[in-house]
Amino acid sequence: MKRVVIAGCGDVGSALAERLQRRGWKVYGLRRNATALPDGIEPIAADLTCADKPADWPAKVDYVVYCPAAGKRDADLYQRLYVEGLQHLLGWVRDSRQTLQFFLQVSSTGVYAQTEGEWVTENSPALADSDTSRALIAAEDVALRGGFPASVVRLAGIYGPGRNRLIEQVRSGLYVPAEPPQFTNRIHRDDAAGLLEHLLTLAEQDELLAPCYLGVDDEPASMHEVTSWMAARLGVALLDDGPTSGRVGSKRCSNELARESGWAPQYPSYREGYGEMLEANRG
Ligand SMILES: NC(=O)c1ccc[n+]([C@@H]2O[C@H](COP(=O)([O-])OP(=O)(O)OC[C@H]3O[C@@H](n4cnc5c(N)ncnc54)[C@H](OP(=O)(O)O)[C@@H]3O)[C@@H](O)[C@H]2O)c1
Repeated sequence: MKRVVIAGCGDVGSALAERLQRRGWKVYGLRRNATALPDGIEPIAADLTCADKPADWPAKVDYVVYCPAAGKRDADLYQRLYVEGLQHLLGWVRDSRQTLQFFLQVSSTGVYAQTEGEWVTENSPALADSDTSRALIAAEDVALRGGFPASVVRLAGIYGPGRNRLIEQVRSGLYVPAEPPQFTNRIHRDDAAGLLEHLLTLAEQDELLAPCYLGVDDEPASMHEVTSWMAARLGVALLDDGPTSGRVGSKRCSNELARESGWAPQYPSYREGYGEMLEANRG
């Protein structure tokens, strides 16, 4: 039986856990509030920002997925959670004389500085220079130099059940100008979990993985397009004197490499994903 530790086992981590359990894997979920883990996941109650190895760290581990979320853009917290937390966890693995078959680190498309609507791939320069982005880039380096076979998965904005912020903003009339187009990228929570599951199963079959994958759907779309579509579905009008989006940055992330590896999103665009959410909210 394969054993996996999902470190930072929240929304995406728990969806991944369920998928791996269905494959017969033993899943350990690490988070501070381990009582919030779904049934059937072996709990590890630990704070990744603390160097001490958790007392209940498993005796055997084959795979680790590192996916905690800072929850707020705070440079110090990013450094402690994404960089030092990752160093702590890799230290626990080494201290336990464990050899990982594969290590997956969840990162973000926020590592890119492109703003002109350019297409971006895994090979594009990742030169975002905010303090938080620099911490993410440093964490990727730690993951890839950790001494185990590893890949980094840069996820775009995650949406899905319970993440209704954009829907609520459009309901209140959020206005996003059409020009210049502000391209946004997203991935449904279930597709993020599905991509991580897919990569772990490739690693299990000793397939060679790339150092980095972009986890995005098929269709980068401008915020104007997404909000206009949503407004039409909701039957609300977007007024150009309404609240405006404060978002900046515009790039188009390609999932070609992930697709070439055999993965396909269940929600290829915002229309399928948000369409389902709008239906569910109506019900
Ligand atoms: N949200 C996005 O749009 C987005 C975009 C790109 C990438 N990502 C990345 O995608 C991954 C999955 O995100 P998600 O949506 O599943 O996040 P989530 O639902 O907020 O889950 C994150 C988990 O991290 C745990 N955590 C936070 N700080 C911790 C600490 N110090 N020690 C141990 N556990 C800690 C939290 O549990 P406790 O509070 O109980 O500790 C929580 O269960 C994250 O790595 C995130 O950075 C997110």
